[in-house]
Amino acid sequence: MLNKKNAYLLLVFVTVVLIVYSIYANFVHDPRATAFLSQKIDLRRALQVAVWLKVMHVHVAFACLAMIAGAINFSSIILKKYRKFHRLNGYLYVISVMIVDLTSGYMAPFATGGKISSMAFNLLNIIWMFFIIMAIVKIRKKQIDRHRKWMIRSYAFVFTNFSIHLLTTIFQKGFGLIYTESYTISIYFSIVLLLLVGEMVTRIPSKATG
Ligand code: HEM
Repeated sequence: MLNKKNAYLLLVFVTVVLIVYSIYANFVHDPRATAFLSQKIDLRRALQVAVWLKVMHVHVAFACLAMIAGAINFSSIILKKYRKFHRLNGYLYVISVMIVDLTSGYMAPFATGGKISSMAFNLLNIIWMFFIIMAIVKIRKKQIDRHRKWMIRSYAFVFTNFSIHLLTTIFQKGFGLIYTESYTISIYFSIVLLLLVGEMVTRIPSKATG
């Protein structure tokens, strides 16, 4: 049975696995993103690979920080016993998300799949920023349950990269689409999927989460 504690432990486990994988894949296994960049065949703008790589590494590092900070703050123990830490860690999460968003803004115009992919990433940027702002507004008004719900909706988006790659593989291998098409479709599907997952988790009564 997936009770409150087990659900949280599962979230922590998935988060840790994804962080370790992201660091290994992007800093150790393929730090020059050779495989990913080889798919960018018909870009309208010239890509400065050295700059793109630096930005991408900052993007991944802060994405991992956002994943850790967010996962820690959903712990009910942290929330009940270490309020000050929860607040500081919350700001670490917000700053990390902003940096992921900013770096995403740089990379979006060069996205694999061209303009349609760029538009999806920009949409994602706006949605993510909106969720974070709502979470801050609600906690400033001391509306704890609403704050919690906006944070859940926001946290769902830390799984963006995982979702895009998983769906790309499904469309490519399962439906025989070419990589670029699969990737573009997956960005749009990921937005819908992560919105739905976030919304579903917010429906769980607050006593049953974290
Ligand atoms: C929080 C977890 C995230 C991680 C771990 C992550 C990781 C990565 C990595 C490793 C890349 C390089 C290409 C690849 O291998 O996929 C990348 C590219 C990119 N990411 Fe993220 N990302 C995350 C979230 C986001 C979010 C939420 C957005 C949008 C708001 C975003 C926007 C982008 C963009 C625009 C690119 C360039 C895509 C392209 O060139 O086609 N990422 N990300």
